[in-house]
Amino acid sequence: MLLPDVSIEGIDAEKSLAAKEAVDLVKDGTVVGLGTGSTVAYFIKHLAERISDGLNIKCVATSTDTKTMARKLGIKVVESIPDGIDLDVDGADEIDLHGNMIKGGGGALLREKIVASRSKKICIIVDSSKLKSAGIGKFTVPIEIFPFLRNTTVEMLEDMGGKCALRDNGAFKTDNGNHIVDCDFGIIANPKLLERKIKMIPGVAEVGIFTNLCDLIIIGEKNNVKKIEVKRSKRGIL
Ligand code: A5P
Repeated sequence: MLLPDVSIEGIDAEKSLAAKEAVDLVKDGTVVGLGTGSTVAYFIKHLAERISDGLNIKCVATSTDTKTMARKLGIKVVESIPDGIDLDVDGADEIDLHGNMIKGGGGALLREKIVASRSKKICIIVDSSKLKSAGIGKFTVPIEIFPFLRNTTVEMLEDMGGKCALRDNGAFKTDNGNHIVDCDFGIIANPKLLERKIKMIPGVAEVGIFTNLCDLIIIGEKNNVKKIEVKRSKRGIL
């Protein structure tokens, strides 16, 4: 049995345990993708400890927040990756047993999807509340949209059946200068199909439904971790 940090408990202890387990996947001399969010923040802290013990890696960050935190803790963050990304470690707002996810609660979904799609291996770290065996969709789907004619993009999403709300009434801006619209589609019967349909709407920069972008789920559960391996299709991300 793994023991959580004594200073934290509940969901935070689960996040920390999952994050610690993922650090063990990081190999010397590799390039690591750093996701965004509170679970990844634990990963960054544990990773920084390994780096101070001599681990030598380079990282790519999926958000300004992640980049700032990583650099403060002495992690080397690069902007170009000539040899690709070996391992991406990220969180999720919801994930099912097939690795289908809703992401973007923190607004970093566009860069998160770019980094994940360039990674040889993708590990998702979550606390036990995020695993949805009956399907994803209780958490509203974050969708990054361009500012130009944004209301008409929202209307098109509503025509597709989403109940939409511009995050912070449109005041929220992503690292890319775009907006987020949070859309309720109910429980999503076919995540891949909905992901494709939303992505087809001109004005959508990226959709927070992630499919075929997970190889391993690490779930913190009370004082332990559970791992679920997912088989990814080799036919590309969609
Ligand atoms: C960031 O935009 C998201 O995709 C996060 O990965 C997701 O919201 C999980 O965040 P927490 O680990 O904070 O729950």
